[in-house]
Amino acid sequence: MRPKLAVRREHGHNAADAVALSRRLGLPLMDASRGEKPELMLEYRGGRLTLCEYRRYRTNPVFVDIDVSIRRYPSLPAAKRGPLARAIGRRTRSIIDATAGWGQDLGLLVAMGYRVTAVERSPVMAVLLEDGLSRLAVNSDVRGPFELPRLVVADAVQYLSTVRETPDCVYLDPMFPPKRKRSALAKRRLRLLREVVGDDEDRGKLFTSALHTSTKRVVVKRADEAPPIADHPDETYTGKLVRYDVYLLGYRE
Ligand SMILES: C[S@@+](CC[C@H](N)C(=O)[O-])C[C@H]1O[C@@H](n2cnc3c(N)ncnc32)[C@H](O)[C@@H]1O
Repeated sequence: MRPKLAVRREHGHNAADAVALSRRLGLPLMDASRGEKPELMLEYRGGRLTLCEYRRYRTNPVFVDIDVSIRRYPSLPAAKRGPLARAIGRRTRSIIDATAGWGQDLGLLVAMGYRVTAVERSPVMAVLLEDGLSRLAVNSDVRGPFELPRLVVADAVQYLSTVRETPDCVYLDPMFPPKRKRSALAKRRLRLLREVVGDDEDRGKLFTSALHTSTKRVVVKRADEAPPIADHPDETYTGKLVRYDVYLLGYRE
């Protein structure tokens, strides 16, 4: 039977890493030379761990790209402007990004100088994040000051209930239906993510857990036309295709 997800090994190219990864994730190891065809493949390519669909192997693979470089940002920490920064709030220092996914929002939060703990429960997304963070740690194009985020591989519902150092803000971006007008790369990232993790049916539980753990606010990212995760957010900040709903915890700036 055609496996859904496998680790692809090409002889001479990170072959030992591919073997270790397939063992760690309990996934089949596919040899490039034998022409095996999983639906999705994890593969070390060009010094990065990538995820791609077998039928689109020739198009650019997708990987965690946390770019906190001086090329991208004229100064670091980046200016706290825009709807995400306004939703996070001026007095927030520490954030738990409880749904790290491809690490895109994580990159923005890190660049803006917040102290971030990233949580991801999908073991596949977690290894992709680990790989992106290890590249960030050694990227000579990156200049501080910023703190490397810590990655926790766990279900955030459980993790939030046991966390010792409670954060100023818990940030949530559970899966929601695909949107019109996204760029081709964003659509591809989302499609692959959906294939790997499915829908986040328990987002209500995660929201409740976030309300109990955060000290100042919970920020929930939603598609601009989607209903809020819970009624009556205290504040709402609208971006191009998304909205940030803010739930304040007995505290206002
Ligand atoms: C829409 S994606 C997040 C995308 C991310 N904000 C970004 O910028 O790339 C949602 C991710 O949250 C993860 N997730 C959902 N519920 C979770 C939970 N309870 N604990 C940990 N991770 C969770 C999913 O596995 C998925 O990778």
